[in-house]
Amino acid sequence: MSCMERVLVIGATGNVGRQVVSQLASTGADVRAMTRKPDAAGFPPQIEVMRGDLSFPDTLDRCLHGTDTVFLVWSAPAAAVVPALARIVQHARRIVLLSAPLKTPHPLFQQPNPHRVMVEKIEQLIETSGLEWTFLRPGMLAANALGWWAPQIRVGDVVRWPYVDVPTAPIHERDIAAVAVRALCQSGHAGAEYVLTGPQSLTHAEQVSTIGCAIGRSLRIEEISPGEWRREWLPIWPEALLDMLLNAWAAAAGHAAFVTSAVAEITGAPAHTFFDWATDHAGEFRA
Ligand SMILES: NC(=O)c1ccc[n+]([C@@H]2O[C@H](COP(=O)([O-])OP(=O)(O)OC[C@H]3O[C@@H](n4cnc5c(N)ncnc54)[C@H](OP(=O)(O)O)[C@@H]3O)[C@@H](O)[C@H]2O)c1
Repeated sequence: MSCMERVLVIGATGNVGRQVVSQLASTGADVRAMTRKPDAAGFPPQIEVMRGDLSFPDTLDRCLHGTDTVFLVWSAPAAAVVPALARIVQHARRIVLLSAPLKTPHPLFQQPNPHRVMVEKIEQLIETSGLEWTFLRPGMLAANALGWWAPQIRVGDVVRWPYVDVPTAPIHERDIAAVAVRALCQSGHAGAEYVLTGPQSLTHAEQVSTIGCAIGRSLRIEEISPGEWRREWLPIWPEALLDMLLNAWAAAAGHAAFVTSAVAEITGAPAHTFFDWATDHAGEFRA
């Protein structure tokens, strides 16, 4: 696929954004990567890297200047939403937003939380902006396993976790990016909301053992209570994030994961399995 768009990727150094930058670059698109720390971004020299911060709207004008299409990963506080979106709307013609399955009637995705309220606000501002928009709604990112389990797996064979039997359908960031690139570069995606998942429903225990297969080790998951998990992770993650996850997993217990075929339908290639993802990231789980 070739692409003539001039694209600003916001969130370019993250799990999904980095893949979007790399896949866009291979289409011939004119790609600009925004980050708060250009010196640490680590992109190849052909990628234009620019300093910008969603919390400081004045920094966005220079990043947006000369681009007409934006890939937006929102990772800033809620207070920054209105001013940042106003700048984006002034400059861009088309936007692809990394959102979440806010409208999917599965308990994993339907628990109230402040993050959800913020994302709904972002969507509402985009929908009423006059921009051509596409919303990508991935379920659980496979890349969550890096923050959740890699530190434990690097030092031993046991992962301590709650809700070990709760299934999700983790999606490879490469597949989200492959859909994003089509929505950024091709016509026919305006107004579309794509619910994107991995191809399989896998419990947390099955995901941990799949990582073990990918790295050639026999890993074991040890169930701990939600309260114990919350106490252990409280010094590491924000309380709101811990509660968001615990509520989602509690609600999803006993339900099969929600699985869609959207990746294959949009890209023409099957979605990557969790084993594919773990193999791609094997080095990050090894000591
Ligand atoms: N985790 C899941 O299962 C899941 C599921 C559905 C949707 N999502 C959505 O996915 C998104 C996270 O995607 P990801 O995993 O690819 O991200 P990530 O790896 O967490 O990276 C976050 C990115 O945001 C950038 N960033 C942070 N604060 C910023 C700011 N103030 N201004 C500009 N850029 C900022 C960071 O860039 P620098 O540090 O380089 O500036 C980095 O590129 C979130 O919006 C989340 O709601 C996640």
